[in-house]
Amino acid sequence: MFINSLFKKKLVLWLCFLGCISSFAQSKIERPVPLNPNKTLQTIAFGSCNNQAKKQVIWPSILKNQPDLWIWLGDNIYGDTEDMRVMSAKYQRLKVASAYRFFRSKCPVVGIWDDHDFGVNDGCKTYPAKARSKELLFDFLEVPKESPAWRRSGAYQTYTFGPRGKRVRVILLDARYFRDILQPAPKDSGQRYKPNETGTILGESQWTWLEKILTESKADVHIIASGIQIIPTQHEYEKWGNFPKERQRLLNLLTKICPSNPILLSGDRHMAEVSEITIDGYKNPIKEITASGMTHGWPVDRKEPNQYRVGEKVIEKNFAVLNIDWEQSPVAFEVEVRGVENQLYHSLKWSY
Ligand SMILES: [Fe+2]
Repeated sequence: MFINSLFKKKLVLWLCFLGCISSFAQSKIERPVPLNPNKTLQTIAFGSCNNQAKKQVIWPSILKNQPDLWIWLGDNIYGDTEDMRVMSAKYQRLKVASAYRFFRSKCPVVGIWDDHDFGVNDGCKTYPAKARSKELLFDFLEVPKESPAWRRSGAYQTYTFGPRGKRVRVILLDARYFRDILQPAPKDSGQRYKPNETGTILGESQWTWLEKILTESKADVHIIASGIQIIPTQHEYEKWGNFPKERQRLLNLLTKICPSNPILLSGDRHMAEVSEITIDGYKNPIKEITASGMTHGWPVDRKEPNQYRVGEKVIEKNFAVLNIDWEQSPVAFEVEVRGVENQLYHSLKWSY
């Protein structure tokens, strides 16, 4: 009897020891990949609208494309709370999900928020928990502690990757923290919000920062990301078009500075589409890729006009991949919108 109980105790100790070794080894294997500013980006994957409470099944398909970088475009979780313990628990749920943990151990990640991970649907500068919410976003993204983005208000950030001649500047705009209030539109207007002709999306400090970043940048490709769509103006939901002067200000800034190869990214809409617009300073129209709906798309299709759309919209769950061919002159781009099984829904090639 005594020998038996001693044996049991030893067995339990051994199992604990083996458990510790195994979780230590696992944590070594699944350590998040840090950002590497020297790396040439050839494949950038991105997406948005990822409900942490739903199955995280899309990650292996994204990984099949061997992305050099993943960009979160907002609604990275559905926080929707002013209670930061709840927000933190929701981030934690995604962070420990095995599929995301494995993905994170293979691919560096940057990102910006939209409304649901900011904390409130269609939220703006009046959201009371925005400062703490930003810290939780940055903790989740593992924004390097030395980044100046930690020390300022708002979540806007910039990163540079690759050597001279193959340099990519990633600019992540915060369209929530400083955004002015929108008033509801009349019911028969076909819009949710009245155009705000005087208010701001970015706020002056972010505008000044953006102009400086673009002016000083010597990068060869400029990825400019915003949670909400920039180019499309017709749909009823949130968009830069709800602040027509802010939208025009951004396009005018591109015309004024003419950064090389600008590519706009956005999310939020639970659908994917490519939009393009002709602006002064560029021979060819500049592109915006909207990739949204990693865990939920549109349940049924509906007509949604977008005079700037190129090709078809994709209402199924999706992510997108941007391939950069540095060997071509001028640099050539290909965007692919892909689904949960990595199936290709839509692709487009271009160069500027
Ligand atoms: Fe959103």
